[in-house]
Amino acid sequence: MFQKSRHAAAALFAMLFLFTAAVHAQTARLPRVSILATGGTIAGTGATSTTTVGYTAATVGVQALIAAVPEIAKVASISGEQVFQIASENMGNEHWLVLAKRVNALLAQPDVDGIVITHGTDTLEETAYFLNLVVKSRKPVVLVGSMRPSTALSADGPINLYNAVNLAGSPAAVGKGVLVAMNDQIHAARDVTKSNTTTADTFRTTELGMIGYIQGGKPYFYREVTRKHTADTEFDVSRLDVLPQVDVAYAYANVGDVAVKALVASGAKGLVHAGVGNGSLPAKTRPALIAAREKGVVIVRAARVGQGIVARNGEANDDQLDFVVADTLSPQKARILLMLALTRTSSTREIQRMFHTY
Ligand code: DGL
Repeated sequence: MFQKSRHAAAALFAMLFLFTAAVHAQTARLPRVSILATGGTIAGTGATSTTTVGYTAATVGVQALIAAVPEIAKVASISGEQVFQIASENMGNEHWLVLAKRVNALLAQPDVDGIVITHGTDTLEETAYFLNLVVKSRKPVVLVGSMRPSTALSADGPINLYNAVNLAGSPAAVGKGVLVAMNDQIHAARDVTKSNTTTADTFRTTELGMIGYIQGGKPYFYREVTRKHTADTEFDVSRLDVLPQVDVAYAYANVGDVAVKALVASGAKGLVHAGVGNGSLPAKTRPALIAAREKGVVIVRAARVGQGIVARNGEANDDQLDFVVADTLSPQKARILLMLALTRTSSTREIQRMFHTY
């Protein structure tokens, strides 16, 4: 009897020891962050240390980017992949589909805690919003770039990358949607935009506000996003190899209908009208938009102004025209949501719901 209880006690002790060791290992282990490199200025090089314009983007490979910031190895267990090597003005739907599928595959792995995507800043906000709508995980996905090439005095890439890796490995970033980490700031993918052609503080969420800071490598959040994203998305690109053609027609004084007609003739299935003011439709453009709708093209009224809600039935009778309004989305982001919406439905009622959901 005594012998049995000794064995039971020994077994219990062994189990407790193993459990404690496992907990210690879990808490002691560094977060596992995958870095997916796509190009941009963060991977750029200039002729001299003072070359901050006129440099070449997308020349430095992912391993060199990681090697340039050895401090990263102290905060995360890193893997690096060169998915593309392009300047981001050349980012296209096909790139997004490849990137989204790779991100979802990696995040499905239990040994990946978060992802950092290095990216050119010109279309970084668009890639971030696209991923915000198609990533099927609550794990952090952080986009990062730089405004000065890697060879420049006070290059911002290394610290931005260090911050992004810390953020992607942080439990506090779980469930926050796709994030943009630039200039010690944390922005939500839906509302951030590049606001300046060259300055390091270019990424802004002007009126709705950024959602946190990164200070000393630690993220501090002050806001929550309210629109659906990532794990709560209804969009699925896993079986898609192409996205519907959706274009943007920009309005301005004296605009006519040439752009709208040309875009429709080229096969656009959806058209975002970047209207003046509250999404107003110039009289010379309106008939072409109505004709496009009659052909089955879905029309979204957005605004070029940058902030505010495009009011449904405000500057146009959307109910009568069977148009959709973009809510607060910029024209370039409204294009992304409309593209994904058209992979699921052509119902303007359903699409309008999506614009009020994401
Ligand atoms: N060609 C631009 C791009 O790749 C450079 C701007 C940048 O990355 O900051 O987006």
